[in-house]
Amino acid sequence: MPLVTSKEMLIAALEGHYAVGAFNANNMEQVQAIVEAAVQERAPVILQVSQGAIRYAGLEFAAAMVRTAAEMADVPVVLHLDHGTDFDQNVRCLRAGFTSLMYDGHADPYEQNVRTTARVCQIAHIVSIPVEAELGSVLTGQVSEEQVRAAMTQPDQVVDFVERTGVDTLAVAIGSIHAGEKQETELDIEHLKKLRAVTDVPFVLHGSSGVKEESELEAIQYGITKINVATMLNQAFIAGMKKAIEDMPNNIDPRKTLTVSRDMVTEVVRHKIRLFGSSGKASSSGYVSAPKSFRSVDLGAVE
Ligand code: G3H
Ligand code: ZN
Repeated sequence: MPLVTSKEMLIAALEGHYAVGAFNANNMEQVQAIVEAAVQERAPVILQVSQGAIRYAGLEFAAAMVRTAAEMADVPVVLHLDHGTDFDQNVRCLRAGFTSLMYDGHADPYEQNVRTTARVCQIAHIVSIPVEAELGSVLTGQVSEEQVRAAMTQPDQVVDFVERTGVDTLAVAIGSIHAGEKQETELDIEHLKKLRAVTDVPFVLHGSSGVKEESELEAIQYGITKINVATMLNQAFIAGMKKAIEDMPNNIDPRKTLTVSRDMVTEVVRHKIRLFGSSGKASSSGYVSAPKSFRSVDLGAVE
């Protein structure tokens, strides 16, 4: 089916107390693996590309791969921009047919984050495309516990931020760190409860690869409705390549190597979909198709 937007999909997840997996892809095999897993699980799915993936594959190429995979699937698929760090990047993705955007202003001073997020929302909402923003910071790399705590989303900013920006979903910092290679982090569920108490907006968990699965499950009960998974899929992809090279040392056909990688990614995605509770939710996910005309919108008139 055609790409769908994430708005109704995530509202349905919030109401149904499950989360939709948002899986990062960098190449054709990862796109195919993610969509194949969603089809096998009858699950709605968000396929997201980061700015790094866009630099690697090219914007049009990345969008076309996901669009094609979605059209061949009979479950709803969203094409989402992950961590778009400037306004222009969001506009380029809107024009390229993305059906969900993210403005990541975590590094901005608060007022600037409000202003730019609101600008992205204003333009995207004209064509019914939802926007995710980040309030607080989900950090990356070697950071101390104090740094993680200091970067958490402040409950007293949430209402003001959501009201002034009109954002559709909010990435919250509740103890996770990007790019963890082992699942050992406990999320701060008490902090999440405080955030949940002040707004109904669906929340997004970033940095899930380093989080304990029990903790993810608890977070879903308190309003985490989109869970981003990247590092774990890259680990599976490379593990597949290593295994294929070890098992077939004389092989020179990349298709044989990458088939093992693709299958290993599919298994990880299926596992996460089942864990998040979105297995079997494809038909009740409340999706809407992206408006057919949105690629012809006059972007210049919106400034
Ligand atoms: O935006 C993408 C994610 O937050 C993924 O985090 O690499 O720790 O799974 P991860
Ligand atoms: Zn992230």
